Amino acid sequence: MIDVLLATSVGYREGEPGHEVLDTAFAARGVVSRWAVWDDPFVDWAGAGLVCVRSTWDYHQRLPDFLGWAGALGPKLLHGVEAFRWNTDKSYLLDLARYSRVPTVPTVIADNPVDLRAAIGGFGTAVVKPRVGASGIGVVIVYDAESWLPVDAGPWVVQPLVESVQHEGELSVFVFGGHPVSQVRKVASPQDIRVHSRYGGTSKAVTLSPDAALLAVDAVAATTEITGTQITYARVDLLHHDGRLVVSEVEITEPGLYLDLVPGNAARFVDAVLPHLG
Ligand SMILES: Nc1ncnc2c1ncn2[C@@H]1O[C@H](COP(=O)(O)OP(=O)(O)O)[C@@H](O)[C@H]1O
Ligand SMILES: [Mg+2]
Repeated sequence: MIDVLLATSVGYREGEPGHEVLDTAFAARGVVSRWAVWDDPFVDWAGAGLVCVRSTWDYHQRLPDFLGWAGALGPKLLHGVEAFRWNTDKSYLLDLARYSRVPTVPTVIADNPVDLRAAIGGFGTAVVKPRVGASGIGVVIVYDAESWLPVDAGPWVVQPLVESVQHEGELSVFVFGGHPVSQVRKVASPQDIRVHSRYGGTSKAVTLSPDAALLAVDAVAATTEITGTQITYARVDLLHHDGRLVVSEVEITEPGLYLDLVPGNAARFVDAVLPHLG
């Protein structure tokens, strides 16, 4: 009998980077956990006590399939399909800005090239990214809306270029069971604004800073209120913009836990999810 199935993707069959510490943390509590590829038709999801989404990092290519899979799992899926539907479309940043006092990176939605051009023009130098996207794919800087055409069909979100990502970097605060527990600082290279290592970015564990921790907890509380879902695990990404910290992303679907940099996240994740094991 498997207690917990950890949903992953074909590129990460064995689990997310650093998964060994998570496997050990479950075993140390006498819990049987296994990694399973979310779109593998032979997995017996119904046989598990609890399903946690972890490294399903190809979902953005097939969002309807992913949400269909999540919906079929029903209540044994932690956070659940409706929270995922909200969180996998970056337009959720508008909800946060509208329905909470949490500051976010200014964000505009554009569904067609005309709106896209207008949105870019409103920001001067802008960052354009797919509304449904992951791993920095499709994120571009646009300096001049007049002489630029998107390569993909949209829809998009448009934001001002937050230049601090190349020196102060992006802060990721991990929030488990409503408590901020750890922090990673990710800095982009001079060649790219994306902080991911594949684009030359560097990440390291840093001490939890009070301002980042408080904002992250606020963002998770606002997410709970908006979605009506108790948030067990989250990673809140923050940027320095206009002299203050603002929320760039609230990841409640498949936040990488950076287990190789912060192995302590494993036990905190396990402690947070186990009360949900029926
Ligand atoms: N407005 C922005 N200004 C500067 N850098 C940005 C901005 N938006 C995104 N980035 C960079 O691109 C990366 C990927 O964008 P993000 O919004 O985190 O989408 P995802 O991680 O879902 O692909 C961020 O981690 C950051 O490094
Ligand atoms: Mg991101």
